[in-house]
Amino acid sequence: MARLNGKVAVITGGARGMGATHARRFVEEGASVVITDVIKDEGSALAAELGEHARFLAHDVTDAAGWDEVVAAAEDTFGPVDVLVNNAGIQKTGPLLDLSEADYRKVIDVNQVSVFLGMRAVIPSMRRAGGGSIVNISSLAGLIGSPMTVAYAASKFAVRGMTKAAAAEFGPEGIRVNSVHPGFIRTPMVVDLPDDHPVIQSAPLGRIADPSEVTALVLYLASDESSFSTGSEFVVDGGYSAV
Ligand SMILES: NC(=O)c1ccc[n+]([C@@H]2O[C@H](COP(=O)([O-])OP(=O)(O)OC[C@H]3O[C@@H](n4cnc5c(N)ncnc54)[C@H](O)[C@@H]3O)[C@@H](O)[C@H]2O)c1
Repeated sequence: MARLNGKVAVITGGARGMGATHARRFVEEGASVVITDVIKDEGSALAAELGEHARFLAHDVTDAAGWDEVVAAAEDTFGPVDVLVNNAGIQKTGPLLDLSEADYRKVIDVNQVSVFLGMRAVIPSMRRAGGGSIVNISSLAGLIGSPMTVAYAASKFAVRGMTKAAAAEFGPEGIRVNSVHPGFIRTPMVVDLPDDHPVIQSAPLGRIADPSEVTALVLYLASDESSFSTGSEFVVDGGYSAV
């Protein structure tokens, strides 16, 4: 039996990278998926490839009014939303002293405020569905600090805390909220990082992961298999944060 049979999912930032891998696997596992992104061509092409159980909507996750349109379109096309994967994100690395206020705020807006907007828009639909699962994509950078990542770390630590607060608030209604903390994953976001970089080699598994290795975890959290997990951090980092 497919692991997401009949579920309706919204995946943000789903046009490429890990979000696209999640979308492909979710449809294979029986879900209907609304993919959102600011990259229209790739998002539309992916939805066309996935067929009648996928729909692409151009949406910037920082646009609050747009979130209501995403939920309305998901309900009209497929029904109430069971799963939300807050995946869209950006990274701006560099010395703290060189980081502009505008860039700092942009990272917070896209990576953190969007998670609030997404949960606020989707939870009423999950109530109509009778419950749901929210998977907030944080990062290794939401667990430990590293140089040159102050804005990204701030946003991803916040996602971890927001996840726990929302889990506490909505658990009694059968809405579970968990965070996922990937290490280094081979996507367009880390395209310049070579496999033999000392940072990669320092982790116990000593390699960059394929997006499908994160998808396996996201799929578990989206499905009813994770029915007793909420408010938790799920780490998929090749052991990087363990040593
Ligand atoms: N790749 C990694 O090593 C890694 C590690 C830890 C966490 N993450 C997180 O995983 C998530 C997915 O990243 P990825 O590695 O697949 O990167 P990616 O850049 O390939 O994908 C991110 C997607 O988000 C979309 N996006 C960016 N800004 C947006 C906005 N304002 N509105 C809507 N969509 C927007 C992009 O267009 C893109 O399709 C991100 O939250 C990222 O921070 C990535």
